[in-house]
Amino acid sequence: MKFGHFDDQNREYVITTPKTPYPWINYLGSESFFGLVSHQAGGYCFFRDAKLRRLTRYRYNNVPTDSGGRYFYISEGKDYWSPSYMPVKRELESFECRHGLGYSKITGKRGGLKAELLFFVPLGHTAEVHQVTLTNESSAKKSFKLFSFAEWCLWNAQDDSANFQRNFSTGEVEIDGSTLYHKTEYRERRDHYALYHVNAPIAGFDTDRETFFGLYNGFGEPDVVAAGESKNSVASGWSPIASHCLVVELAPGETKTFVFTLGYVEVPRDQKWEKPGVINKQPAKKLIEAFSTPAQVTAALAKLREHWNGLLGLYALSSKDEKLNRMVNIWNPYQCMVTFNMSRSASYFESGIGRGMGFRDSNQDLLGFVHLVPERARERIIDIASTQFADGSAYHQYQPLTKRGNNDIGSGFNDDPLWLILGVAGYIKETGDWGILDEQVPFDNDENNKATLLEHCKRSFDHVLNNLGPHGLPLIGRADWNDCLNLNCFSETPDESYQTTGNRVGRTAESVFIAGMFVHIGPEYAALCQKKGQADEAKRALGEVKKMEETVLRDGWDGEWFLRAYDFFGKKVGSRECPPGDAQILIEPQGFCVMGGIGVETGQAKQALDAVKERLDTRYGIVLNNPPYAEYHVELGEISSYPPGYKENAGIFCHNNPWIMIAETVIGRGDRAFEYYKKIAPAYLEEISEIHRTEPYVYSQMIAGKDAVNHGEAKNSWLTGTAAWNFVAASQYLLGVRPEFEGLSVKPCIGTEIPEFTVTRKCRGATYNIKVKNVRGNGDVKLTVDGKAISGNLVPYAAAGAVVNVECEA
Ligand code: BGC
Ligand code: NOJ
Repeated sequence: MKFGHFDDQNREYVITTPKTPYPWINYLGSESFFGLVSHQAGGYCFFRDAKLRRLTRYRYNNVPTDSGGRYFYISEGKDYWSPSYMPVKRELESFECRHGLGYSKITGKRGGLKAELLFFVPLGHTAEVHQVTLTNESSAKKSFKLFSFAEWCLWNAQDDSANFQRNFSTGEVEIDGSTLYHKTEYRERRDHYALYHVNAPIAGFDTDRETFFGLYNGFGEPDVVAAGESKNSVASGWSPIASHCLVVELAPGETKTFVFTLGYVEVPRDQKWEKPGVINKQPAKKLIEAFSTPAQVTAALAKLREHWNGLLGLYALSSKDEKLNRMVNIWNPYQCMVTFNMSRSASYFESGIGRGMGFRDSNQDLLGFVHLVPERARERIIDIASTQFADGSAYHQYQPLTKRGNNDIGSGFNDDPLWLILGVAGYIKETGDWGILDEQVPFDNDENNKATLLEHCKRSFDHVLNNLGPHGLPLIGRADWNDCLNLNCFSETPDESYQTTGNRVGRTAESVFIAGMFVHIGPEYAALCQKKGQADEAKRALGEVKKMEETVLRDGWDGEWFLRAYDFFGKKVGSRECPPGDAQILIEPQGFCVMGGIGVETGQAKQALDAVKERLDTRYGIVLNNPPYAEYHVELGEISSYPPGYKENAGIFCHNNPWIMIAETVIGRGDRAFEYYKKIAPAYLEEISEIHRTEPYVYSQMIAGKDAVNHGEAKNSWLTGTAAWNFVAASQYLLGVRPEFEGLSVKPCIGTEIPEFTVTRKCRGATYNIKVKNVRGNGDVKLTVDGKAISGNLVPYAAAGAVVNVECEA
């Protein structure tokens, strides 16, 4: 069942009922000010940091689920309603929410009155604009009141939801005409305040929550709106809010537009006050003036559209499969950008007060956005590498505000170092910026201990070699990519972290997955060395890769698929020898070992992928392991803590499905790769939205696996490495246009379902128009570049500004 439709022309998803299976959200903002907005106007906004600078309050996991937002109420005679349906829930004559790139537009109609709410964050500003357009579509004159509503968060979102003995006494506001200011804690250590303004005279206001709603009422039944009159309350402590009241009259057919600005302002410490107790409003006034007319709003929205047109023009696909087009051209890159901006901090599943930036996550995210914002990717790489330790290991997370490694979590996730090489290689392939390897980058942010970025990559590579276990396979440490496979932690006490607890020192638990990574990523490191004139080091690296490949085939091969690991006691994990209540096969090494080319010549690669098909594939995607762990195993950790079918215990982890897609292209099975792609790509799941439940325009981290009660139901949408990896799989391997160090590789491998397609790819300033005829679909290609046949699949890079025409028979 569908709850809306795609509008590809406008790059929007159009939701046509308020009653979607879950709140379907969008993100506003692209620089420093961000907002989350659901199709029912739920959500919140923040400046830079969702924990420390949260402007408006949101209640996670509430009843009803989506509680708190920027609400508008219309009060007409005895009737009152909300154009976004929530929170009043009065039936609407029509409802529509258009989620676009960086903006959302919600339109509701009741009693012949149409109200359109447009939400976005204009480029270059630290504010949300809420434009309300009211049209009288009835034949009679209308006279009604429009109330706005935003509830302030007392800045620190964690404190705001816990420290009530203090919070209920600190709230402060100021009112100045049509601008309502929130200035809690401004009198002491904060140099910032927030404001909510409307560009018209107001008939009244409220800033005290209890006065506005009445103590025993919910969001849907504010006393003030029911009475049709503001009480001009001035908050003192408790819960400050901002609500305007506007009196509106509309002749039949008439339209009126109001612009609300919800903004954040910083003031230099020595200029904080206009006079004692009165905040300096000059910077706020500048912001207000920038959005005092609808024409300014239209211009700012046009600028935002321009911004996105530029970004999305970098990789453009045209094929007969409109679902594939919309994933590749619009929604997948959009999700990659949102993930770049948010990392894992704020979504409807991440509360904004939890995790910092992951070392591994950030390197992988980069693969999805490097072509969009290469200069920001460069900065991110330096930030990440600066948190690496001198021995090559890495803090598992770092804090976005300080850019320092996070001591609470520490290091010991032994896959982390290798992801840095992958990120650096991806960046250089895209940009040709070899100079980044010469940058002096600190270890653990210590300016007195620096080395080149290339040296950082060497430390990453050697970290694996310096930490090999009894079989010569890499030691796993606290965990590898699978944060929940904790082979050294042995957690038996509730409330402790599975990952950071324990960590036995016995150097026995080994990961075949890290070995696969090493074989896949090692040659990238060798290529970096070769280019930098270190031929001997390149040779050494390739020798080590070869050795690891042999080790995997000797001790990491289980007979029909790759083994997952050896545990602390040297027992096999993910083997056909494991008892039926334990996992016998796990997805990760099947993907990465084949991506690294292990067993491609000798047949194991095909065998492993056939085992994936047979044992892990389902109608909704590939599960992580099979069978699921039936019981908790202290020696395996969090993976066995989840009920069967969910999350890392046999859930469909959308992040590593693309590894299998890529692996299938490595052995030339384009049709199967595409089949897997379509199983989890959200646009293809739109028709089963009642089962999938999360947004049909973005990936979720996890879909419940075949052993779960709710097989097919997705969770944790938006912020996941899934976005980057699926973009890589689709754009670089299935459609096959991939920047390499010395040229643009064109090697589609997508089967023959799509007989032909074209890709326009901008890379290093040149434009490549690539026309593909799909006759084999197995990665075997013949190329013509500007009319001349070439051998191989590498189109040499052209000068910036050049246009290159490529014909490809695939
Ligand atoms: C989740 C993982 C996550 C880990 C660390 C676990 O509970 O299942 O997906 O990576 O926490 O945050
Ligand atoms: C989510 C984490 O952010 C990511 O780093 C990890 O690889 C996956 N979960 C799998 O456990």
